[in-house]
Amino acid sequence: DGVYADATNGDLPHLPYHHEALRDLAEKAMEPGPFGYVEGSAGRERTADANVAAFARYALRPRSLRPGAENAGDLGVTLFGERYPTPLLTAPVGVLEQVHGEAELAVARGANALGVPMVLSTAASTPMEEVAEAADTWWYQLYWPGDDALAESFVRRATAAGAKAIVVTADTKRLGWRPRDLALGHLPFLRSQGMANYFSDPEFRSRLKADPEPGGVFTEAVFHFLGAFASRSLSTDNIARIRDWTDLPVLVKGVVRGDEAIELVEAGVDGLVVSNHGGRQVDNAVAALDALPEVVEAVGDRAAVLFDSGVRSGADVAVAMALGARAVLLGRPWVYGLAVDGAAGVEHVLRAVLAELQITAELMGRDAADLDRDDVTRR
Ligand code: FNR
Repeated sequence: DGVYADATNGDLPHLPYHHEALRDLAEKAMEPGPFGYVEGSAGRERTADANVAAFARYALRPRSLRPGAENAGDLGVTLFGERYPTPLLTAPVGVLEQVHGEAELAVARGANALGVPMVLSTAASTPMEEVAEAADTWWYQLYWPGDDALAESFVRRATAAGAKAIVVTADTKRLGWRPRDLALGHLPFLRSQGMANYFSDPEFRSRLKADPEPGGVFTEAVFHFLGAFASRSLSTDNIARIRDWTDLPVLVKGVVRGDEAIELVEAGVDGLVVSNHGGRQVDNAVAALDALPEVVEAVGDRAAVLFDSGVRSGADVAVAMALGARAVLLGRPWVYGLAVDGAAGVEHVLRAVLAELQITAELMGRDAADLDRDDVTRR
């Protein structure tokens, strides 16, 4: 049956199915700096831990007898008028050249195999036009730069290259306090080839006095001077401005409060991503899953609410959808698949999560898109 048969295929899996086992393999495959960068979070990493722990506080309520349940288990969802085969997307993750040599191109291939859209980071190691060639469906994630001319250039490039939506990340006006990176002195985002998406931008390049040395290191101050670091004053005004540059749906990622969700909906956003950036920004913050019901209630049906932070399995996706998420972004799990086996590793992770989701939905007597509050209870 569908993804499940494809996931098992009668052969032994070439990679583990459990997130923790895959993470351990990735740790062996990666240098300590890059591994610490991916695995690490802000401060004492309590937010990151809470994101995962929160899923254990919600319990699914399977339905065994419901008539018509034999037809349940469909994974398709409609977002912004487009039909997607599954509710999963790959979360935007920057500087992937430190994870695997094929970086974003491998992610695109792995995601294509499952019909999963890729959300491409502004801090990508590959220029977005090259990713657009490789990816069947992709959205563009914008770190809104301090300088609007650069923001406009990114948004116009993404629109021209075929992105299906723009996701403005709002929780990263500066990087969080990340002790693992500090301890290892690992600042991958400052290396010029790590962020080829910036260095391929005409607006960004026009500010450089000379081409960067291969492997050259830019200081934070230089990035700031170039207007490339994220804006410290993002507000709902930005939503009005971005409408002049694109007709694509606009989402804001990094919302964990109902009051801000209402403000954004009133400013006209099409969607929100409830997320705390995987716990990488504010330590001791609310678990993303615990913020989801508050945001869903505040938004109602005025915008699509998506979710990420702490999703580790298909059952987790089902819980987030039952709490009101219309679609779910997967983060670290596919990054570890990428580290261990490139595109095939990404595909393995996505296939396993989707297979478990499909089986779970079927056993719940539900199509994934129909999961709702009646399907979940506090443990
Ligand atoms: C991220 N995330 C992120 N988000 C974003 O909007 N732009 C980016 O460039 C990045 N870069 C990035 C790098 C790494 C190494 C990680 C782990 C995360 C956040 C990401 O999109 C998502 O919100 C989190 O990964 C979700 O948390 P979990 O489920 O991965 O723990």
